[in-house]
Amino acid sequence: MGFEPADVSGGPRRDVLTATDVAPDPIPVHVACVMDGNGRWAARRGLPRTEGHAAGEAALLDAVEGALDLRIPWITMYAFSTENWRRPADEVRYLMGFNESLLVRRRDELHEKGVRIRFAGRRDWRVPRRVLRRMDESTALTKHNRRCTLTMAFNYGGRAEIVDAVRKLVADGIPPNKINEKAIRSRLYFPDQPDPDLVVRTSGEHRISNFLLWQLAYSELVFDDVLWPDFRRTHLFEAVRHYQRRQRRYGGVTQ
Ligand code: FPP
Repeated sequence: MGFEPADVSGGPRRDVLTATDVAPDPIPVHVACVMDGNGRWAARRGLPRTEGHAAGEAALLDAVEGALDLRIPWITMYAFSTENWRRPADEVRYLMGFNESLLVRRRDELHEKGVRIRFAGRRDWRVPRRVLRRMDESTALTKHNRRCTLTMAFNYGGRAEIVDAVRKLVADGIPPNKINEKAIRSRLYFPDQPDPDLVVRTSGEHRISNFLLWQLAYSELVFDDVLWPDFRRTHLFEAVRHYQRRQRRYGGVTQ
């Protein structure tokens, strides 16, 4: 994983990591995941890319379970970017329907576990109305849950979010001398959400791909070679163990 050995010496193998293998402190308050590698997972099996997305559902649910095991209160999943409209039309159509059906099939289960579901991204004309309706229903159903907030970044782009914040600044009539980081942050999609402490990207790609550009300023990044459909909570636990060995300085110096 990433640039470090997969296991700490003498530690348990990653395929058997459980929540108790993760030190109780520090646990990241917010973990964000780039669910990458579904297409490659399917191609390796001679399957259409869409089968890879379907297989990614189990990974998503297990990652959420892992977050609950570790008492991580915020988790954000990159499900569809503002650039993913460039994918083949069939795949885009599949992903819209898949996200809708995933919500219908899984929202009660997530609700019972105390998960609040929210969506970050643009609600533009390209997102089918029925998908928006399911998103709104899931948000309404789970809005009082506080055990964990699962934010699905859907039709989301980090640059688009900053553009939208700037538009709000202008619409609010904020003069240039009153524009500061606080003014921008308060106009992001979810100002109440803490910045991610840890970002996990699967499939061996080492990039951010327009994810949470404002919020990732001081996040710790962990890259895992596992393809998203094979991701399970053990990979999350391992990523948290890597995180626990990092020294966060925020531009300052280590004591
Ligand atoms: C960024 O890479 C990755 C994403 C935006 C994640 C996309 C994930 C899905 C479409 C599947 C969602 C799965 C479930 C289970 C809901 P990129 O490919 O957009 O960017 P890149 O070209 O820089 O790699």
